[in-house]
Amino acid sequence: MGLFPDRRELSALAYQLGPGRYYQPAYRFIAADIGVAQGSVLDVGTGPGWVAIHLAAGRPEIDAVGIDVSDTMLRYAEANKRGRLNVTFRKMDATRIVYPERTFELAVAVQSAHHWKDPGAVFAEVHRVLVDGGKFYVYEANPASEVPEGWIARKGPLPPDRFVRRQWARYGMDDARFAELRRVAEASPFGPDVTEEPHGFYRRLVCTR
Ligand SMILES: C[S@@+](CC[C@H](N)C(=O)[O-])C[C@H]1O[C@@H](n2cnc3c(N)ncnc32)[C@H](O)[C@@H]1O
Repeated sequence: MGLFPDRRELSALAYQLGPGRYYQPAYRFIAADIGVAQGSVLDVGTGPGWVAIHLAAGRPEIDAVGIDVSDTMLRYAEANKRGRLNVTFRKMDATRIVYPERTFELAVAVQSAHHWKDPGAVFAEVHRVLVDGGKFYVYEANPASEVPEGWIARKGPLPPDRFVRRQWARYGMDDARFAELRRVAEASPFGPDVTEEPHGFYRRLVCTR
């Protein structure tokens, strides 16, 4: 890093200090709802690592792997895991996952799909590395959602609902974008076995291999 951090460094820092903190209850709800107790799980676009960390917390029989293309995000993820042994972070593009076929029992991607340049390639790769019957949960914030009680950690009044919802409008997926993501998933090797459901302020696709 030079004298001034570049834009990517700053946006990773902003994510670590902002959403990475106030989404903590949401990460917990996601991990609890997925409810996996053992096996290998893949967190696609792990960012600061919290989804992988919450999936692995208190579950020694889970082996969680978080992948991301951003070195800066992965540095925060390493710091956030605080030496936890059953979580590994690796620099990897989700369109070229360097694991053999049928490695993972489950995969999840939270707030990452809106960044994917080639979502079809991500679905194909995740399908390849899942075991038969394995599920891929793809979460995106729904800008039309209210902020559900208890899903955002607040310090006093911060962050206010209107700020959080503005972030979903910028970084979530509206109906049209989410429908397009679903079409891409259905055209991928997951085939038509894709369902869509709300979970808190997110919508998620559930793709089954
Ligand atoms: C908004 S962050 C979300 C991080 C985390 N899942 C969360 O919910 O806190 C999206 C992350 O997806 C990563 N990402 C985008 N495209 C990717 C790709 N093709 N392969 C791996 N990671 C990717 C970005 O680098 C970024 O860290």
